[in-house]
Amino acid sequence: MSTDSTNFETIAIRLREEKTKNREHTTPIYLTSSFTFEDAEQARALFADEIGGNIYTRFSNPNNNEFIAKLCALEGAEDGIATASGMSAMFTSMASFLKAGDHILASRSVFGSTHQIISQLLPRWGITYSYADIDKPDTWEGLIQPNTKMIFIETPSNPALDIIDLEWLGKLANKHKVLLNVDNCFASPYLQQPLKWGAHIVTHSATKFIDGQGRVIAGAILASKEIIKEVRFFARHTGPSLSPMSAWMLSKSLETLAVRMDRHCENAFTLAKYLEKHPDIELVKYPFLPSHPQYAVAKKQMKQGGALVTFVVKGGIDRGRTFLNSVKLMSHSANLGDTRTIVTHPASTTHSKLTDDDRKQVGILPGLIRISTGLEHIDDLIADVEQALVASKSANSTD
Ligand SMILES: Cc1ncc(COP(=O)(O)O)c(C=O)c1O
Repeated sequence: MSTDSTNFETIAIRLREEKTKNREHTTPIYLTSSFTFEDAEQARALFADEIGGNIYTRFSNPNNNEFIAKLCALEGAEDGIATASGMSAMFTSMASFLKAGDHILASRSVFGSTHQIISQLLPRWGITYSYADIDKPDTWEGLIQPNTKMIFIETPSNPALDIIDLEWLGKLANKHKVLLNVDNCFASPYLQQPLKWGAHIVTHSATKFIDGQGRVIAGAILASKEIIKEVRFFARHTGPSLSPMSAWMLSKSLETLAVRMDRHCENAFTLAKYLEKHPDIELVKYPFLPSHPQYAVAKKQMKQGGALVTFVVKGGIDRGRTFLNSVKLMSHSANLGDTRTIVTHPASTTHSKLTDDDRKQVGILPGLIRISTGLEHIDDLIADVEQALVASKSANSTD
């Protein structure tokens, strides 16, 4: 699979599996659990890894191959694997490299289930961890131990939207011969390519912007051929593989990633600027607002500011809850990265398993609201926020 173009949009559309004799315009869906061998010698050579080719869909499948080939080209990776969820990508990328006695250093600000893997599951197998604060880069080097094997981060983080300098962290990881694993789900490869800044592994919840239409649960792990060889061994024998049906949908989704992200970002930036001026809003965070604490780093490593905006409504958690109950157009859901705008209250949903103290440390204030800005007309989104602010204000004043 190859294309002559080096342009993101063209690669995302034109890179494809070879056409069959039917000359189809769109790659067919290969819903087959196994593949046949031409003869005994081919079967032997395939199992011995002497030749490439599909054997069994848990190992590889044309739809998964096409989806991953595109993602690799878009992220600047040599190789990768598709997984059945973002969480299986996170877990597989860690479990392929960590063993009893090893240590993982992670940013404190990670997705709730990633936090559970690091703090509850990995310790069951004798793997210890430390957390570092994204906004205190000078503390990171001191937390690297002789047995540290991996640094794991999200940037921007979920939901606080904190940013860490990938170039600086890549150098630190190389200095200590540690793998840097970056969950790039909030930015997508269109906005940020961590491998180019020095990361060794990029992980994704493809459920988010890569699908972008709220239909599929999926993940991906992308890296050098050498790293993916280890990951593939682990995945082949433990089986977190993605369904070919989902891989086919995701390959189609990638065709529109660039245009979708442009509109997501335009809507989010407009919404963030509107919220920042609003007298009823206490705090707004958006990577491309100059008020963001890591604005300069965001501008350096991201093409645009992303689709996520977080804010706190004046009036505390009660008004925040009334705001959520008052939205009419926007969906109240726990997902992000959809065509539909989604509002979420992280403290009581996605990050509810964290202690109050942990939440405080990563900037998840009790009244924090996260908006994943969709592709609706911006006027309708602002009108919905405005009416929910008015409704929540009058509801609170009658309390
Ligand atoms: C940053 C981040 N990483 C990983 C995940 C997990 O992905 P999935 O739900 O596809 O397993 C999510 C959200 O669910 C997320 O927001």
